[in-house]
Amino acid sequence: MRYRIVEQTRPGGMLEHVYRGVLLPAFPPEEIESESSVADTLDAGLGSLFVAVDGKGKPAGAAFGRWSEASRVQLLTYLAVDPATRGHGLGGRLLHEAMDTWRGRYDPCMILAEVESPDAPAVHEAYGDPRRRLAFYESAGAKILDLPYFQPGIGGPTKRVHGMLLLVLHADPSFTEGRPDRLSGRPLRTFMEAYLESSEGATPTDWDAKSLLKAIGREDGIPMGRNETQR
Ligand SMILES: CC(C)(COP(=O)(O)OP(=O)(O)OC[C@H]1O[C@@H](n2cnc3c(N)ncnc32)[C@H](O)[C@@H]1OP(=O)(O)O)[C@@H](O)C(=O)NCCC(=O)NCCS
Repeated sequence: MRYRIVEQTRPGGMLEHVYRGVLLPAFPPEEIESESSVADTLDAGLGSLFVAVDGKGKPAGAAFGRWSEASRVQLLTYLAVDPATRGHGLGGRLLHEAMDTWRGRYDPCMILAEVESPDAPAVHEAYGDPRRRLAFYESAGAKILDLPYFQPGIGGPTKRVHGMLLLVLHADPSFTEGRPDRLSGRPLRTFMEAYLESSEGATPTDWDAKSLLKAIGREDGIPMGRNETQR
């Protein structure tokens, strides 16, 4: 089957079909925001939805990302391929297409992604295998940031998802200057503060959030690469 990748930057169009048919079934409910929240991001001109469609126009995979102008950080919010089509290169194509577009369009400081730790058990076949998923991103050049990371709670801090990793898919060389194994945390702190606030509805002041922001702010930069204990 041949697929072509199309990008949508406005709400409407294929969003409903893609959200309900591709994205929603691929993520545990606590990890995925509502369709209206995705639509709002597109409406604000900050989102991009890449859709892989087959010859009949049916979506088989999608990538959605959100741009943060204040931090100049791009988040790959969701990437999913229909379970029947996984393992045939479509996820890799979507990832490369999205990253090439974002690099050209925004010249971002960083492109990030969140994934479950490989230590997390594979909870449901539809959500994929955390080890293979991490391998997928690492083969695309992603590096794990050594942070006490959690996904901000969608709707409040009690909804946080622990056991997640933050990956850097691309960093402008100015943020790794002199130390290719360290990432300067400046844009990341601005990004993370805004992400926590917009997702959880308020600026968090709890210990976990403070620890995360403190680790991001390390003067010598955030270690990145693969933590041997995670192998
Ligand atoms: C991760 C995912 C997008 C990869 O898409 P894909 O089209 O299968 O990937 P490709 O064919 O380009 O690359 C193959 C690699 O993807 C990964 N992969 C394939 N099937 C997978 C699955 N069921 N679970 C996890 N990773 C898988 C493996 O690393 C595989 O390499 P391998 O065959 O050497 O093990 C897809 O498996 C998926 O939708 N998973 C569920 C949703 C998800 O985890 N999204 C990522 C978080 S944002």
